[in-house]
Parts: sequence; C-alpha cells; structure tokens
Amino acid sequence: MDKSAITIALPKGRLLPDCVRILSDVGITAPEDLSTTRKLLVPSEDGSARFLIIRDKDLPTYVDYGAADMGIVGKDVLMESGRKVLEPLDLGFGYCRIVVAQPAATMRSGIGPGWGHVRVATKYPFIAEQHFAARGEQIEIIELYGSIELAPLVGLADRIVDLVSTGETLRQNNLVETEDVMEVTARLVVNRASMKIKAQRLVPIIEAMREQLQTRGASFAEAADGRHGDTETREK
Ligand code: PRP
Repeated sequence: MDKSAITIALPKGRLLPDCVRILSDVGITAPEDLSTTRKLLVPSEDGSARFLIIRDKDLPTYVDYGAADMGIVGKDVLMESGRKVLEPLDLGFGYCRIVVAQPAATMRSGIGPGWGHVRVATKYPFIAEQHFAARGEQIEIIELYGSIELAPLVGLADRIVDLVSTGETLRQNNLVETEDVMEVTARLVVNRASMKIKAQRLVPIIEAMREQLQTRGASFAEAADGRHGDTETREK
C-alpha cells in the first residue's frame, strides 16, 4: 500500500452504503463490499487510502486521535461525542431528527412539560441535558443504549429523547413527539493535524465531495467559522 495512504473511518450500519457511494464518486473505491466484509481495515482499490470499519460511536474518537485522517458520521453521534474534530461538509444523507416524545396516554392526562420531577430516557445524555437546560427544565437523565421507546412503557422514564426516522417505532409504541431537538445528517469529519500535514491529499477529496454535493443538488453547509471549520460539540 502507498506509504502516503490516508485512513478513512466509516461507520457500520445504515450510513455505510451512502458513505461508500460518495467516496466512490470521488474516485476512492473499495475492492470488496464493506457492508458484508468481516475485515476491519480494508485498503482501497488503488492503495491510496484505507478504510476503517467501526461502530459509529467510536468514529469521532478515531478521528480526534488521528488514528483516522477523516471519517463520516451522523451529527447526533458527533455532537454527543464532544470530540474536537473539523467538520468541513454536511453530506446531506442519513437525514433523521432527534425529538422528545412521551406516551400518548400521559399527554391526554395533561402530564407534559413543566410537570414535577421528570425522568428522561435517552442514548444522548449530553444532547438531552443541553436541550432541557436551555428551557430551564430540571430533569433526570436515564442513559440507555437501545430500545429507548420501551422506557416510558414500563415506568422507567416519563419521556424519551431519541432519533426518529420514519416515525414507525413511536407509532407502534403509542408515543407522541412533543418537541424537536435537532435535525441529523451525515457529516464529513477530519483530524485537525491531518488537515495541515496531509492537506495536499485531503483538500482535493473534500473539494471533490463538495462538487458532488453541488451537482446532486444536495444540501451542504459550511461550519460557522470557516471553510474547514470546527464542529460545535462539547468540550472533552
Ligand atoms: C433508532 C431509534 C429509534 C428508531 C427510529 O433505533 O433509536 O428507536 O431507530 O426509527 P423509525 O422512526 O424509522 O421507527 P435503532 O434501530 O438504531 O435501534 P436501537 O433502538 O437499538 O438504538
């Protein structure tokens, strides 16, 4: 493999096919199906890059420490991680929302915002805390790792803060959205040092992706503080 090869971290799961597509659109292709391979480190076809296939929650850590030069991850995971990585592009795909929801039954009985001591189940403790703090609401966070919608059904929590994509999980569990927290899309993230040291390799890739997005008419955003700006995550 090319000694100057760059390392690109990709998240297992739902975002992976779109990640593979946008990289292949800019000429970085994998020699095998990254969604099915059991390999964790896969060189690109031309050897100019290598892919790390990892859990999305771990991805900002790999990029922050420079174990990967760049990666693609959902804004939800990035925000929750608090990692200080650069976030040059909103890639537009993987759209979903984080919302507050509660059982339809408790809505009908008038239990809602402002009601006594509230327990909120979530896999996003930081995002949830920020959301309620901004509203001056005191809540207790119950951190869970999955099937968040179950918590209010069995009395573990009063509300949840969770991802909604189709809304089917909320519907099937008789939960209703009460507040929007944030919109989520996939973001290109880059290690700060790599952006300087490997600018010759990384900048053309970022610019090619930006052009791809423009041609596709997909939405993309610049980070507030410049072309290769910082992500707005919490301090670690
Ligand atoms: C996510 C999320 C919701 C569900 C929303 O869970 O936490 O539970 O998807 O999707 P929907 O609006 O299309 O129904 P995921 O499938 O990642 O599993 P998890 O509950 O184990 O986190």
